[in-house]
Amino acid sequence: IPVDSFDLVIFGGTGDLARRKILPGLFRRFRSGQMPAEARIIGAARSEMDDAGYRQMIRDAIAEFGSDEKNDAAGIDEFIERLHYVAIDATGEGGWHQLRDLMREGVIRAFYFSVAPSLFGALAERLHQHGIADDTSRIVVEKPFGRDLDTAKALNATLAEHFDESQIYRIDHYLGKETVQNLMAVRFGNVLFEPLWNSHYIDHIQITVAETVGVTGRGSYYDKSGAMRDMVQNHLMQLLCLIAMEPPSVYDADTVRDEKLKVIRALQPVEPHQIVRGQYEASQDGPSYREDAENPRSFTESFLALKCHIANWRWAKVPFYIRTGKRMKARSSEIAVVFKDLGHTIFEGDTARHRNILSIRLQPNEGMDLQVTIKEPGPGGMRLVDVPLDMSFADALGPDQDAPDAYERLIMDVIRGNQTLFMRGDEVEAAWAWTDPIIKGWEARNDVPKLYDAGTAGPEDAMMLMHRDGRRWREIK
Ligand code: BG6
Repeated sequence: IPVDSFDLVIFGGTGDLARRKILPGLFRRFRSGQMPAEARIIGAARSEMDDAGYRQMIRDAIAEFGSDEKNDAAGIDEFIERLHYVAIDATGEGGWHQLRDLMREGVIRAFYFSVAPSLFGALAERLHQHGIADDTSRIVVEKPFGRDLDTAKALNATLAEHFDESQIYRIDHYLGKETVQNLMAVRFGNVLFEPLWNSHYIDHIQITVAETVGVTGRGSYYDKSGAMRDMVQNHLMQLLCLIAMEPPSVYDADTVRDEKLKVIRALQPVEPHQIVRGQYEASQDGPSYREDAENPRSFTESFLALKCHIANWRWAKVPFYIRTGKRMKARSSEIAVVFKDLGHTIFEGDTARHRNILSIRLQPNEGMDLQVTIKEPGPGGMRLVDVPLDMSFADALGPDQDAPDAYERLIMDVIRGNQTLFMRGDEVEAAWAWTDPIIKGWEARNDVPKLYDAGTAGPEDAMMLMHRDGRRWREIK
């Protein structure tokens, strides 16, 4: 279904994100017929360039970063006609009149701030001063949204000077992932799971986001962030919220976000012994973090594992174990809900502990499987064995060539005015309020990350975090 017509201005329109994700994504939406033919995209950045130069740049970007659709030459020709460019001085006056003259009346105006957060205030101010944005416009901002509670509060306050919360779309691209939304569908669209979704039946929950990539080329950003700021405070926290939140009474933006916020606020502080920070070392699978980040003395973590608790009735005493890392043995993201074992077995001789495990695979091979216990086939008597009831979404529903990726879906949601999959200001602040003391603790103690070989499952201590509790991590494969 096509969205309404729009003028989308991308500040930072020549940057990495615009070229890698935003524009190739918009091209896919254009091809699928979702982007109306007369919609326009206006790149705005510092360099001098004309429309033709920008169109060529985006043509090249689609060739480099697009998937199958990059072979659609006619489609690309048509798409890039929708692109315009304005050279703009974010903190000065240059370009703002041209931008104003370019904007059409009567269509949705959206402004994507794909720039350093230090420019948000200047952009917001100038958009208003020149009458380009009004109270129907939407703005999109990217992470990092601050680097601690104070900076996040300051950013929220800056944006709030010019825009209402209902106009602000804070992107966390994990919320745009198909399976992440499926998590809500599975929990709240089936009678099977929700009655069991609590501390009576669940032993613990594991969330893993393992990546094989290192930090090559982005060391200057990553080395100041580390896994906590880069992944945990946002992406993993969002996954945790969706798994743990109470059922919202309706599926709408504020009701869902209210429930997520309650989860974050109920997170208990994490003790130092419940966290393992890691940093990868060189191995046959790749160079060390310090080489990648070009900082021979870095103590930044490229891996983090932690155990946390949510202090409410539903989750009393249920640990949540989360981990994420770069240059691990496989790219694999999974949420595993591990149910309690049966208190009693009626089958003589059955000594194994059987548990149901619901595994939700985010990527790759999106899908779910549910480990169930059955009788081992054959004549051996009543012997039990655990098998997966596997459902790959691609197998069940057929591959959907046209399925939007996270960015595409989220940008279309901006145009539709649907904020459900975007973070509200108070959520972001609550997430920082939880991570701040942890990070400050490391700084105060000069914490040194544990080393792990590139291409492995992370440092030994992360294994111990689980073993101490008589549990084990799911295999990363
Ligand atoms: C980004 C982080 O937000 O998410 C990156 O800055 C990380 O460090 C990326 O690699 C992971 O996203 P995805 O979609 O590849 O899992």
